[in-house]
Amino acid sequence: MNLKNRHLLTLLDFTPEEINYLLELAARLKFEKKNGITHQVLKGKNIVLLFEKDSTRTRCAFEVAGYDLGMNVTYIGSSGSQMGKKESIKDTARVLGRMFDGIEYRGFKQETVECLAEYSGVPVWNGLTEKFHPTQILADFLTIKEYKGDLKGIKFAYFGDGRYNMGNSYMVGSAKMGIDFRMVGPKELWPSEDLINKCQEIAKQTGAKITLTEDVNEGIKDCDVVATDVWVSMGEPDEVWAERIKLLKPYQVNKELFAKAKSDAIFLHCLPSFHNLETKVGMEVYEKFGLNGLEVTEDVFECERSVVFDEAENRLHTIKAVIYASMVDAE
Ligand code: CP
Ligand code: NVA
Repeated sequence: MNLKNRHLLTLLDFTPEEINYLLELAARLKFEKKNGITHQVLKGKNIVLLFEKDSTRTRCAFEVAGYDLGMNVTYIGSSGSQMGKKESIKDTARVLGRMFDGIEYRGFKQETVECLAEYSGVPVWNGLTEKFHPTQILADFLTIKEYKGDLKGIKFAYFGDGRYNMGNSYMVGSAKMGIDFRMVGPKELWPSEDLINKCQEIAKQTGAKITLTEDVNEGIKDCDVVATDVWVSMGEPDEVWAERIKLLKPYQVNKELFAKAKSDAIFLHCLPSFHNLETKVGMEVYEKFGLNGLEVTEDVFECERSVVFDEAENRLHTIKAVIYASMVDAE
């Protein structure tokens, strides 16, 4: 398996074998880190992290992974560079490619990360766009493997906003890895026809099953894994909250719904999550709409089978595997 110089823009570009390779590499790097075995194989290399949107996990995972591999890491936030304001993405890509050995991008458009990949001449990693969040799916799949052993045949239900980065990416990843995937939410928020068709085609090759349903009982039946995401994503205007709450309240992951999954089902959430009133936005939504948990309730979020912090930790190990595979010569 040789993934040297490969970009990670969407999992659509990767075969199931390549995804599996990244997951196995991540598991090995995790084991090594926990056992004090260092892997500073990229000493002297430099990477840059471009963030047009905020981040805790993705930024920290890329930074720590970079340092663990011996690299120097530069962070550029939403202000402070010329990118997109005085300088085009194409020109920025060509400048950064002369200075850095790899580029991470988080922001709005998938086209931006694609443009960086086309013009920089170095590996580019998608740290989230409106359309896809591929490094998150690798972390989720590593977590599922740790708890359930295998991905193939796993019954996985995603509740909520299906047309954004997480919904799209779960469907793609599931199609690739032979998962029995259920997208559960209102039709208005399902992924595009085009992406659904692509995933159905992939599923024919991998044995995956892709179901889209508005029926929560159909979605949750016999599930091994239950996941959700925020109802309003970064970059969306506040005005969409009222409409989103109306559409997605029936798909909230609460105790009653989670009880309908298998008794050993696990709960996943990419985080950050609105499950209580301990955030500014959570409090504002409560004052306006009277809900004290949104996409998931506090009891599910805090229960024993919620593995969201294992999932968050696995962002580090999987992102390290992505950097490693795209920059280190295959063994
Ligand atoms: N899950 C995730 O991408 O989190 P951050 O926004 O904190 O990076
Ligand atoms: N859908 C969310 C994911 C955050 C990691 C967002 O784009 O804000």
